[in-house]
Amino acid sequence: MSQASMPGMERVAQAALELVTDGMALGLGTGRAAEAFIRGLGERVRGGLRVSGVATSLRSEELARTMGIELVSLEDTPSLDIAFDGADEVTPALDLMKGLGGALLRERVVASLARRFVVLVTPEKRVPALCTRAPVPIEIVPFAVAPVRRSLAALGADPVVRLASDGAPYRTDNGNAIVDARFAPLADAATTDRAIRALPGVVDTGMFLGMAQLVWVGEDDGLVRLERV
Ligand code: A5P
Repeated sequence: MSQASMPGMERVAQAALELVTDGMALGLGTGRAAEAFIRGLGERVRGGLRVSGVATSLRSEELARTMGIELVSLEDTPSLDIAFDGADEVTPALDLMKGLGGALLRERVVASLARRFVVLVTPEKRVPALCTRAPVPIEIVPFAVAPVRRSLAALGADPVVRLASDGAPYRTDNGNAIVDARFAPLADAATTDRAIRALPGVVDTGMFLGMAQLVWVGEDDGLVRLERV
């Protein structure tokens, strides 16, 4: 595909691939942008590149395996060179909302082990404040869903228990539930994040504050690079 006719998602995947060099250990994210990256990485591996990866979801693990990318576990890999992932929202300060794909917990673990966390998005993900377009996905142990949901409503959210496509309660790769909590756009995301995390039974939230170093935004006619200063 020529650069000129490349959709934004492919553009960011290509930009991400340019950061990868032989011998790197990589974090492999979840979602459409991350999957475009994994497919591109697989092509490079077929061409002789040697890398290893830790996947952030069973879905990405399966794709990476199909593409012939060497998968390693966190037992053998104490740190990663770069973690690549998508996001549902990106603010001007490079704070992120993640987790509409359900992989937020493993995504945070993997990103936290990487020397560099690189985020791949298309332009509609850029927002002035978190919760402008997405709810906060919250991973919760199933036993605690009802009390956490009531507490989220008391914090001002509209909390909805996520369901799978068959109508059963959604379960993450870790066996937990997700509640999507819609708030008004957050002027102080850190305070809201702390309040949610303090609720017993909450395992993680989709707010990734101060974690991304580099965000590539794939427009249909070019790329925008946003870097934390
Ligand atoms: C997965 O849990 C999410 O955090 C994804 O990274 C996020 O939803 C972005 O996915 P897309 O690239 O499919 O929009």
